[in-house]
Amino acid sequence: MYNEPMLRDGALKNKTILVTGGGTGLGRSMSKYFLELGANVIISSRKLNVIEATAKELEQETGGKVLAVVCDVRKYEEVEAVIAKGYETFGSIDGLVNNAAGNFISPTERLSNKAFDIIVDIVLKGTYNCTLALGKKWIADKQKASILNIVTTYSWTGSGYVVPSACAKAGVLALTKSLASEWSKYGIRSNAIAPGPFPTQGAFSRLFPENLAKIIDPLERIPLKRYGEHQELANLAAYLISDYASFVNGEVVTIDGGEWIYGAGEFNAFDKVPAPMWDEIEKFVRGKKQE
Ligand code: HXC
Ligand code: NAP
Repeated sequence: MYNEPMLRDGALKNKTILVTGGGTGLGRSMSKYFLELGANVIISSRKLNVIEATAKELEQETGGKVLAVVCDVRKYEEVEAVIAKGYETFGSIDGLVNNAAGNFISPTERLSNKAFDIIVDIVLKGTYNCTLALGKKWIADKQKASILNIVTTYSWTGSGYVVPSACAKAGVLALTKSLASEWSKYGIRSNAIAPGPFPTQGAFSRLFPENLAKIIDPLERIPLKRYGEHQELANLAAYLISDYASFVNGEVVTIDGGEWIYGAGEFNAFDKVPAPMWDEIEKFVRGKKQE
């Protein structure tokens, strides 16, 4: 495990970055690192008390400037209001991290249509609302900028039991790649990160609840046998949003300790074979060749 901050001091100086869902979990951790690197950060979510408390803590911890504005990303007018407040406070916004999300596990047939809507609206509509509102402003102002979307590895593969999230994150993946092409002529880059499991209260309480632990151990699926560290994700996010990544556009970086590829590899479960058993297996398999 390597948990050191990655970029040089001041790497994000003179940048202002909007992080949706920045009051908790990975959004908070990314915001903290952006501040340590010299950026101003705007955090937004539905809960004023949460983002205000986080803003205060982050300012104390980093000495940076944080603006906390309530915004439900599903509501376009609220998104426009956050952006206006951000420009009023900092004079500019240079980066957008579409991090806000909603998710929970459920067999799909148990979902109400409202439950399906709520996840898709937060994740997909929320992401395109923020992207569209800021993108219009950037294009009108001829301002170069960077968008970073937080997706998942099941954006490609789909996944049972989180189907609304899978549908929405697949949409966000399509948005990332589409705009990387269309908006690059305006100097707007668009990239994404696909994290595997990183412990956060928000995700783990809804996706890996304690009463499931007896039958499912998420660590078994990860060949590195550990969860991600928030600094590891923050390092990647800071790089992708920064000018160091000026030629990285339309990329989605998976950071999952090999979980996805491990699950896909036909024979990877052979890890379970005890080492001494390989002598016996080899003898048996070689024996077959002679038959
Ligand atoms: C079935 C459920 C449900 C459940 C809610 N609903 N929880 N249905 N099983 N466990 C239904 C409700 O009954 C209701 O439908 C509808 O969903 C809306 O629920 P509300 O509770 O009214 O909504 P709200 O209070 O706005 O909460 C939204 C939420 C909640 C999405 C349901 O979980 C939330 O606030 N989440 C935000 C944070 C979050 O989810 N973080 C995790 C991201 S992790 P009816 O029809 O009854 O009215 C992630 C990473 C995944 O995305 C990858 C990991 C490896
Ligand atoms: P989290 O702490 O629950 O973060 C989700 C944030 O989204 C919360 O701050 C929440 O704040 C905000 N949010 C939810 N609905 C919103 C809305 N309508 N408008 C504005 N903000 C809203 O969970 P997390 O684990 O850090 O997840 C962060 C991101 O990482 C998500 O995109 C998630 O899909 C992704 N991810 C996480 C993992 C993981 O293992 N943790 C793995 C893969 C991907 P409010 O409730 O105050 O609105």
